Formats: sequence, C-alpha cells, structure tokens
Amino acid sequence: MHKQPLNAIPPTLASVFDYERLAQERMTPQAWAYISGGSGDELTLKRNREKLDGLCLLPSSLSKVTDGNTKTTLLGQQFEHPIISAPIAYQKLAHPEGEVATAMATEAQGGLFIMSTLASCLFEDVAGQVESPRWFQLYIQPTRAQTLKLIQQAERNLFSALVITIDSPINGLRNREQRAEFVLPPGVRAVNIDKPQAITHPGEGRSLVFQGVMAQAPCWSDIAYIRQHTALPIILKGILNPRDAEKAARAGVAGIVVSNHGGRALDGVPSPVEMLPTIRNIVGEDMLVLADSGVRRGADIVKLIALGADAVLVGRPIMYALATAGALGVAHCIRLLRDELEMTMALCGFESVTQIDESCLWNAP
Ligand code: FNR
Ligand code: LAC
Repeated sequence: MHKQPLNAIPPTLASVFDYERLAQERMTPQAWAYISGGSGDELTLKRNREKLDGLCLLPSSLSKVTDGNTKTTLLGQQFEHPIISAPIAYQKLAHPEGEVATAMATEAQGGLFIMSTLASCLFEDVAGQVESPRWFQLYIQPTRAQTLKLIQQAERNLFSALVITIDSPINGLRNREQRAEFVLPPGVRAVNIDKPQAITHPGEGRSLVFQGVMAQAPCWSDIAYIRQHTALPIILKGILNPRDAEKAARAGVAGIVVSNHGGRALDGVPSPVEMLPTIRNIVGEDMLVLADSGVRRGADIVKLIALGADAVLVGRPIMYALATAGALGVAHCIRLLRDELEMTMALCGFESVTQIDESCLWNAP
C-alpha cells in the first residue's frame, strides 16, 4: 500500500526536487511511469535539465533592488509572479482532488492555472472554486463540432484564453508507460470530452500513422477556423521550430509556448533553452512568448526569461507536490519557486521580471 498525502509540509522539504521522492512513495508504479516518464530513450527529457544546468548566471552586486517584485502581466491579466501551472492531464492520478486542488492552490499563490483538455475534473468544478483568470488548453478534437463544444464550455466557465497544443497529434513513444503497463485506473478519466474512438487500422497497404492517426490531426487551417469561431486569444503550445514560430506570428495568434512537452512528444528534439533566442527574434518583442520543459529552480525561470520568455510553465513538480500534500503541496511548490526566483533576481540586480535580460547570462569561452 502506498503512503497517504501529507497534511503538513516537513521542514526538510527544501526544493521542488524533494517532492519527487515523496511523490513516488504515494503513487502506483504505473502513475509514476506516466507522470515522470518521457518519450523514447528520454534523450530530450534529460537534455531539458542539462541545458538549463549548463547555462551560467552572472551575478550583479551592489544594485539597489528594494523596490523589487515579481509581478507579471500576461495578455493584460495581472499575476503575482511568472510561474504558470502547466496543463497536465488526469490530475486525479496524483491526488483525489485533482485539478480543483491545483487550481485553488495556484490562485492562492497569485498565479495562472491552465486546465488540460484531458482534465479529470469538470470545467464547472474548477470554475466554481476559483475566481482569478484561468486559461484552457485545447487538444483539437476529431470533429469540428466536438472542438467547438469544448471551446464553448471554456467560454461559459470564464476561461480567458485558449492554449492549443500542437506538438502531440500522436502520443510520443511512451516506452516507459508501456513497460509499466500503464492504464488509467477506475475513476480517473477525461471527464470534459466525449470518449475517444479507438483509431482502427486503415487497411492493407496503408499506414496507421499517415492514413490513421494523422488523418485526424489538426493543420494550420484549423487554427484559422478556431480564430474565426472564438473571441478568446489563442496561444500555440509546443513550438520549437523557428519556421513554426514564424507561421504562428503570421496566423495572428496572441502567443506561443516554446516547449518540447517536457520531453514527452518527439524524442531527440532540442530544449527550449536552445531555441528561445532565435524564436523571440523571429516573433518580435510584442508577442507573448512562454516557455517550459525542465523548470525546477527559480534560477531556471530567470534563465528562460533572459533568453526571451515572458513567463514559464511548470509541469511535473506541480504533480509531485499534488501527490505529496494536495493543494497545500502545490501552493508550497509554487512559493518555493517564487522565493528562489526573487533571490536570483535580487542577486542578478533585477527589480522586475521585465528587466531580466541576457546581461545575467555568461557564455563560457
Ligand atoms: C503533460 N503536458 C501536457 N500538455 C498539454 O498541453 N496537455 C496535456 O494534457 C498535458 N498532459 C501532461 C501530463 C503529464 C503527466 C505531464 C508531465 C505533462 C505537458 C506540460 O504541459 C508541460 O509542457 C511539461 O510538463 C513541461 O515540462 P516539465 O515542467 O514537466 O519538465
Ligand atoms: C501527455 C499528454 C496528455 O503529455 O499531453 O501525457
């Protein structure tokens, strides 16, 4: 039997890395494989941490930072800090209160919560518990009617932006999940969408990938279609290729998330650390650029913002904190990251998030 969630945070819990171990003790091996794993050989999963760790910060001393704060404005909405709770599917895998607990804890910390299409709690249950701005992550559905139904539910429940994830029309090669024989346990499912139809093999001589799964996959024309059918701002999540960033800018979206899906989509792709400067340069100063994949420290947040992001998303640490101590854990996890962010900003001489730039990065010769 695995351990129950804690109802107090132990004083020895010093960083979000500490949540990892405590969470594993509270999850089935199957849920652990799903949440912690990456795709394929997990090259990209490892690379996310390696590239963040490999970047050096350059401190700046004796600057006055006594007016400092971490306030962040995203699409005209104000938050206390730039740490966003990433859209994560099936949060009841980590804790019975699932997305409702994460949304409440995120709000209590003055942050932004993004709810997944594959949430295990109802739109209404999340909307009933939080008042502050929240965004909805959209996986485009097999039919336009299903997609529009989801968008309308998001609108009705006052979600104020659509984050359309574009990097996973096919699930990554989840070898770790497969080896652990991961299936959703009873009581955990995507409650806001129609039950997905299993994709059948398209027949002799045809490919399950090309003529099967990809026959249902979205294209740029779907983004244009969605833009015509909602007034919500659209953010495209999962951009790494500068050419896709350029197309996104031309498609008139409000923002992008530079992300490799936490190493869970295509394995062997670069880390956002490597692509952000080029992408920021292409989309210009004004577009909202978010980034994620591997953020575990306040210093990582400073690094990604210095490379061109406006704010960052945090994925697995939020799930580990949720599994360890429910809403209390999530709130504490966000607070830890914010405290580290403040300290890093102060020692690099920054008083505001918008001041953070590449002057705090050092390239080894
Ligand atoms: C995800 N992610 C994700 N993204 C998305 O757009 N929709 C989703 O439903 C999910 N589901 C999901 C489940 C789990 C268990 C994980 C770990 C991740 C990706 C997520 O939003 C984010 O991009 C990554 O988690 C960021 O990397 P880190 O912070 O986990 O390293
Ligand atoms: C994942 C999907 C649900 O990363 O986005 O598991």
